[in-house]
Parts: sequence; structure tokens; C-alpha cells
Amino acid sequence: MIRETAQIRNTVQGTMEDTAQDTVLLPDGTSMPRFGMGTWHLAEGRRPQSQELNALRAGLDAGITLIDTAEMYADGKAESLVGRAIKNHDRSRLFLVSKVYPHNAGRRHLRQSLEASLSRLGTDYLDMYLLHWRGSIPLSETVECMEQAKSDGLIRNWGVSNFDTADMQELFATDGGDACAVNQDLYHLGSRGVEYDLLPWMDAHRMPMMAYCPLAQAGTLRSGLTSSPVVRSIAAAHDADPIQILLAFVLRRDDMIAIPCTGSAEHLRSNLRARSITFSDDEITALDRAFPAPTEKEPLDMQ
Ligand SMILES: NC(=O)c1ccc[n+]([C@@H]2O[C@H](COP(=O)([O-])OP(=O)(O)OC[C@H]3O[C@@H](n4cnc5c(N)ncnc54)[C@H](OP(=O)(O)O)[C@@H]3O)[C@@H](O)[C@H]2O)c1
Repeated sequence: MIRETAQIRNTVQGTMEDTAQDTVLLPDGTSMPRFGMGTWHLAEGRRPQSQELNALRAGLDAGITLIDTAEMYADGKAESLVGRAIKNHDRSRLFLVSKVYPHNAGRRHLRQSLEASLSRLGTDYLDMYLLHWRGSIPLSETVECMEQAKSDGLIRNWGVSNFDTADMQELFATDGGDACAVNQDLYHLGSRGVEYDLLPWMDAHRMPMMAYCPLAQAGTLRSGLTSSPVVRSIAAAHDADPIQILLAFVLRRDDMIAIPCTGSAEHLRSNLRARSITFSDDEITALDRAFPAPTEKEPLDMQ
């Protein structure tokens, strides 16, 4: 773990300034943006949709091309919102990710789900299609359907979400399962369990992780996170706020894609600024002391 932390520190120095173009390499040699916009809880009527549309458009205008959504979010309305936001943007420059419900991830329904997502998004392909979490449909059947959708040009790549190390091993033991391009899991400063054996496994397979809840849902997922004196003093030193420190912590790893969600253009701009925060070795040590990396296997954290 010490070796890994040192390696991360060495590799991230100087990369955060390269903001909108910052990418990771996928196992098939194509690249994927390292910073995107999440969409869970958008289009649920929590605020005027014009505000949420403005936030997504502010991100697109700032050069953010990755958007993460799912058929589940607001029963498809989040995908429709994204479709409105990207309408006048060059599709070839975007990286759209959506997810299929586990109960739809088989021969009976996957194609129908995928086509409905494409229609709501107003596009004819996804850059990445994820199995949202494991269900009862055999992995072999999901892999077969994903590969068929790829052959048919409806998706460029596919991946999984909420898979722990044993799930990944089982997937890779499944015929064609090693074509999986990403795994999307919960990861933030207050929940570092994936650092124990999942991230090392994924690194060994050159597979990036998509970190969901990188802001710990504005700090609410763990008490004492945004009020931590360590987080607050590091924030002050960078003329930042604690939420930006949470985001910078996730982005410090160059094998990590972060997809913070906001329906506020102001928050969006604040999140963009977090990409230029680089921690000193002392700051990393202080964060590690306050919110230690795991020393044993922990159950996969999920939302
Ligand atoms: N695969 C999965 O099972 C799974 C599960 C959960 C999430 N996800 C994906 O990951 C994305 C991110 O996760 P998440 O949305 O749950 O959590 P998150 O990104 O950690 O936090 C979102 C919350 O933070 C607030 N926020 C955003 N920027 C802020 C800022 N600068 N200052 C203060 N508050 C701020 C947002 O409110 P405002 O809108 O008011 O800014 C929202 O309440 C989701 O949207 C979704 O796309 C995937």
C-alpha cells in the first residue's frame, strides 16, 4: 500500500492542470475522460429543470465531454435531460455512459433497454454501457448481449458497476468477460475500502475505476468528513472548500475517473476548479492519518 501511494503521488504530479483533456486509457487502447458529470437525482423535480440543464450545459461549454447516466435515474428522465443538454453538441466529441438494470441485462430485455436509452439520449450509440449491479441473470448471458450490442455498433465499450474483487474474478473467468472496460464503484475520502484489493486487481488488469459519490454526496455519506479539521485546513491552504478537497482526493489517482453530480452551475464551476488542486506529501499523509486506507478487506460500499 505504501508503494502504491508513493507511485500514485509520483504519477499524478503535474497532471491535474491538464483539465478538460485529462484521460485514462481503456483496456482496448481507446481513451476515456477522467472527469465527468453524474446525473443521479437530476430530473426528479427537486429544482427547476432549466437550472439542471444550465449546469450540464456549463460543463459541456467548459469542455467536459463525459456524462454518466442510467435508465434507472428518474425513470429515464435523467437520460432525456442529458439528451436535451447535448442536442447542439458534436456527438463525436462526447463520451456518454449509461447503465442497464440487472433485470434487463439479458437476452429478453437488454436490446430493448439499450434502444430506449439511445432514444432518450437522442444518439445512436453509447461510448460505455454498464451493468448497474449484479442481479440473477448469469454473467455469461450479459456478456453475450453486451458483445452483440458492440458488434452491432450500438455501444463502443461495456463495463460493470458495484462489482467487488470476487465479482471481477468471476467475470474474467466467464467467456468474453475480460472485454470489460471499467468498473464503477463508490469511492471517496471517507470510504476507501476499494483500495485494499479491488483497485490493485484492476490496476493489474489495466482497468480504470469510475468513482461514484466522489463528493460523498456533499459530505453527507460520512459524518465528520467536511467538518474534519484536517480537510478544512488543507482546503484553506488551497483557497478551496472541503468539497473541492474531497474531489481532488479522488482525482489524485491517475487510474480514477470521477463523476461528481450537481444540478447547480455554480457548484459545477467549483468542481471544475478542484481539478487543479495538487496535494503535497505532507497533506496526503495528514489525509491518510485522518481517513486511513484499509488494512483489511471491507465489504464493498454502495449507494
Ligand atoms: N453505479 C452506481 O450504482 C451509482 C450510484 C450512485 C451514483 N452513481 C453516479 O455517480 C454520480 C455521482 O454520485 P452522487 O450524485 O450520488 O454523489 P456526489 O457526486 O458525491 O454528490 C452529489 C451531491 O453533492 C452536491 N454537490 C455537488 N457539487 C457541490 C459543490 N461544489 N458544493 C456543494 N455541494 C455540491 C450535489 O448537490 P447540488 O446539485 O445542489 O450541487 C449533490 O447533492 C451520480 O450522479 C451517478 O451518475 C452511480
